[in-house]
Amino acid sequence: MVKAWYMDNDTTNQCLEHHRNPPEFITVEDLYKKTGVEYFKINVETYKTDGILDKIKEERGYTYEDEIVCSKECLPNFEEKLKSFFTEHLHTDEEIRFVLEGSGYFDVRDGDDQWIRIAVYAGDMIVIPKGIYHRFTLDTNHFIRAKRFFVGEPVWLPYNRPADDMPCRKEYVDKLQKGFVTAA
Ligand SMILES: [Fe+2]
Repeated sequence: MVKAWYMDNDTTNQCLEHHRNPPEFITVEDLYKKTGVEYFKINVETYKTDGILDKIKEERGYTYEDEIVCSKECLPNFEEKLKSFFTEHLHTDEEIRFVLEGSGYFDVRDGDDQWIRIAVYAGDMIVIPKGIYHRFTLDTNHFIRAKRFFVGEPVWLPYNRPADDMPCRKEYVDKLQKGFVTAA
């Protein structure tokens, strides 16, 4: 099961857990209520045939998919890429990742601008809403392989914070204020 927690303010070594003292975990339900981030558990052994991923793709209109590997060996300009992944940003579309192998951390801001760290492992699929400030880092295993999905032609462009005047940001803030009550 995916784990999420509020982060401490220590800015050294982004690959560590960065728990608060004492740790403050947050459930998947609360994660959705506080941020709109959605979570799906998928079996990495059977997903090609069990229909669960297919159903999610169909319902949400994910027509594009590819696979990425993030490790020193596989990613060109590794250090530079990691730096940009970890720079706080938003997108004009959802960021959807299904982890096949390895692990990593997605950090998202809650409504009070606090960082919540989401630890993802094989079988975890998360949907980061458009307009939310977030970032990604590898953990101390330094390896992740994941599928990416998209509605239509993919746009991976990050807009670094501040991007408060972008329509997708305003929409997100509006949803946040109204509250994420009905899970998709
Ligand atoms: Fe992103």
